[in-house]
Amino acid sequence: MPVDAAFSRFDMARLYDAFNHHGEDGDFYENFAQEPCRVLDIGCGTGSVTVRLAKRGHQVTGVDPAAGMLQVARMKDGQGRVDWVHAGAGEFSLSARFDLAIMTGHVFQVFLDDAETLAALRNIHRHMVPGGRLILESRNPLAKAWENWTRQKTTDRRVIDGVGSVEVYYQIKDVEAEHVTFDAIFTLEATGETLTSESRLRFPAAGTIERLLAEAGFGESALLGWWDRTPYSETSPEIIAIARA
Ligand SMILES: C[S@@+](CC[C@H](N)C(=O)[O-])C[C@H]1O[C@@H](n2cnc3c(N)ncnc32)[C@H](O)[C@@H]1O
Repeated sequence: MPVDAAFSRFDMARLYDAFNHHGEDGDFYENFAQEPCRVLDIGCGTGSVTVRLAKRGHQVTGVDPAAGMLQVARMKDGQGRVDWVHAGAGEFSLSARFDLAIMTGHVFQVFLDDAETLAALRNIHRHMVPGGRLILESRNPLAKAWENWTRQKTTDRRVIDGVGSVEVYYQIKDVEAEHVTFDAIFTLEATGETLTSESRLRFPAAGTIERLLAEAGFGESALLGWWDRTPYSETSPEIIAIARA
């Protein structure tokens, strides 16, 4: 499956951290494992959560198919704490086995159908110790987050080192059944250059996520609706699944 330009191209990946922050979600992942353990971060992107976990003493591997994102991630890891792997979730093959696997920043939604999702989940399961935990997050389709992805509501502007002032907004192109297609449009104000990246995301229902986890070999899974551990309900913004390998 092709990777979005926003992630594969270094000139776009270097803009990612300015517009994407890990607040309560980052704290949740950082504090989940109380004791140092082996952590697999699938779709690690620019490595913001990955490096935080490594600094907490965990032995961390970050996997991502986007060269641009990994280039940014490596720049944050001057001490070489993390093992970075350039591969997709369904493709990587490592000899290590992990106690905790995470997919932060809604990575789970890049898998567009059951076959892609199962290939990823089965490969992750194969890399986990029995009883290990997988945490994934997906936006609740019942909350229809995409209805707020208008130019008016998403326009944001940041000053980025070496780039200058950058504006971004989202533009929805298509909403069909479980899938939402949209553009992220960046304008580099110093040059007027415009960079556009198209993304397509799946918004599976909670029941679909539970079914796919079970089909991939995971045991019981708990569903949360927010990072404060509120249980999932139909009004939750998020579906956070914690599954046992
Ligand atoms: C929204 S970013 C999230 C990045 C990071 N996890 C975070 O929390 O900031 C989505 C990431 O999923 C990655 N991705 C896309 N296709 C993937 C695949 N097949 N397997 C694993 N990761 C994938 C992208 O390259 C990108 O880094």
